[in-house]
Amino acid sequence: MTSSPWTAEALVARYDQVRTHTELLAAPLSPEDQTVQSMADVSPTKWHRAHVTWFFETFVLAENERGFSPFQDKYWFLFNSYYEAVGPRYNRAERGVVSRPGAHDVGIYRGNVDTRMRDLVDSLDQGTLDKLTSTIELGFHHEQQHQELLLMDIKHVLSMNPLQPVYAGTPSAVSEPDQIDWLDVEGGLVEIGCRGDAFCFDNELPEHQVYLEPYRLADRLVTNGEWLAFMADGGYRRPELWLSDGWAKVKAEGWDAPLYWLNLDGVWFEHTLNGTWPVNPGLPVSHVSHYEADAYAAWAGKRLPTEAEWEHGVRQAGPRDAQHLVGNLADTQSFHPRAAGPSTGKLRQAWGDCWEWTSSAYLPYPGFHPAAGAIGEYNGKFMSNQMVLRGGCALTPAGHVRDSYRNFFPPSARWALSGVRLADGGAPATRGGTAA
Ligand SMILES: [Fe+2]
Repeated sequence: MTSSPWTAEALVARYDQVRTHTELLAAPLSPEDQTVQSMADVSPTKWHRAHVTWFFETFVLAENERGFSPFQDKYWFLFNSYYEAVGPRYNRAERGVVSRPGAHDVGIYRGNVDTRMRDLVDSLDQGTLDKLTSTIELGFHHEQQHQELLLMDIKHVLSMNPLQPVYAGTPSAVSEPDQIDWLDVEGGLVEIGCRGDAFCFDNELPEHQVYLEPYRLADRLVTNGEWLAFMADGGYRRPELWLSDGWAKVKAEGWDAPLYWLNLDGVWFEHTLNGTWPVNPGLPVSHVSHYEADAYAAWAGKRLPTEAEWEHGVRQAGPRDAQHLVGNLADTQSFHPRAAGPSTGKLRQAWGDCWEWTSSAYLPYPGFHPAAGAIGEYNGKFMSNQMVLRGGCALTPAGHVRDSYRNFFPPSARWALSGVRLADGGAPATRGGTAA
């Protein structure tokens, strides 16, 4: 995990900005909303707010604050997510039964750690600060990851409520899918991975070379309208389209549509953070698993891009202005994918909208070394049975994602805001296409 030099003033300003944003996201939610855990993968909002605070307390204050003692001894047990080196922790699947501390008490915990963090940073000489900066900056990016998770998780929580509550935002106007253009990308020996001095996670390192055959990328994401055609053509009933594990999941779970779709009197509706609305054909399909994405690609006679193809392709043809990646990220406050808009001759929807499944297993890059100590558990130990997703989504904080960023989820996961971009040529498809 790399980072650039920071002054104490800049570090505190950034700290306050990130921490305040978490509280803004939680503000529309009642203490009751913040307590519910609707399934094992989902964490209560107040748990996210507390866990990111625990991260700063554990990895920064505990090792650097003079006369440190924890705010509450048992919080170390309650709010440790998965760090074996830190000690035992509470069962993830039962976070929703922990009614105390309540949402208000979590706010007090946050305030206490915030004061101590500011005091610590203000008290350090520049040399000590430089040594601590990478951990504090990791805490910023960690909290941003949980800001996204907080929204994904509350979406699932609210979806379980028969009243179908709205979190925020307004739905897009109804639109129809437009044409997909295919962008040719020259292959060859290309550089993949984090470059430069800006922050990145350890799993994006080291930068290395990969050989790619020439390939094509769809210039936009697969839409709901196209997904309806897949469904109408028996997409969820035809085993020849599916990976074996995926087909087993279809049968075991009774999948017949994306996660948040529900059929009311023959009309498909979709639960969103903006409310529950008829499925909008022109918007990207979202909340599909890797298995579904792969089956759709087989049906369409295409394939999913590898993560190296995605990264190289977006560097060649991705949209960006001088300073920023341009897209429907969380700063738009849409809280949902949007239609692609007119063709641009570049990749549309590369940043934001939906995390894009790739065909790449989440594995270490050549020469990967996790950080020493407990922080080394951040990424490396999850490099098994997960697939890589790229590009961020409508719930990803602006400034958090980048072209080398590697998100990852198990291939059956659907509660993440995930979608599909197709590829063609180059790397082989796992199965031949059969339609479209
Ligand atoms: Fe975490």
